Amino acid sequence: MEPADVTIRTGSLADVDALERLWVAVHHRHAEAMPELGPYVSDAETWAARSALYRRLLARPGTTLLLAERDGELVAYGLAYILDPDEDWVRDTWATGARIGEIESLSVRPADRGQGLGTLLLERLERALADQGVQDLVIGLLPGNDGALRLYERRGYRPTWMYVSRFASRDG
Ligand SMILES: CC(C)(COP(=O)(O)OP(=O)(O)OC[C@H]1O[C@@H](n2cnc3c(N)ncnc32)[C@H](O)[C@@H]1OP(=O)(O)O)[C@@H](O)C(=O)NCCC(=O)NCCS
Repeated sequence: MEPADVTIRTGSLADVDALERLWVAVHHRHAEAMPELGPYVSDAETWAARSALYRRLLARPGTTLLLAERDGELVAYGLAYILDPDEDWVRDTWATGARIGEIESLSVRPADRGQGLGTLLLERLERALADQGVQDLVIGLLPGNDGALRLYERRGYRPTWMYVSRFASRDG
């Protein structure tokens, strides 16, 4: 159950602009977690790319955006969607159901972290996918994001797939 003063509601395309600050906090967390992987894109660049992705995903059936609000102020959000069969990297390797859900984003305002909101939003996103018959789930995260990994492992997720990168913008 959510804390008494927090309301969770389903969002839509109309809510995307309001997510900017919380998404940029995720971007900063990524850069802090793995500074050696920089340079990172600017706040404006990350939000331009991310908001375009959210708009595309929200136009698809099966996508769920959840917003957590305290006193009418946005304190957290999560977004989950169902992978397109063409972008599904799971089913040629692991035995799963016909459709895979991805928890695309989870972000809690720094002052509101550690109170169970992230776990609650994750549970609700999982339920929204389960209600559509999707039981098999993935979440992407940076390898240095240990706190987020602990949260996901507590809910049964296991490290599954790893990319390595060699970007020309990096020194060395
Ligand atoms: C990861 C995140 C969504 C968790 O939300 P939360 O409401 O703090 O999580 P909960 O209170 O339900 O659970 C607490 C757990 O979250 C994780 N956590 C990650 N960052 C944390 C932080 N700054 N403060 C507290 N907990 C954090 C830990 O696993 C923590 O448990 P533990 O440290 O006791 O093992 C939130 O900390 C956040 O927005 N972090 C920055 C963005 C991010 O990394 N998002 C995930 C990208 S994959």
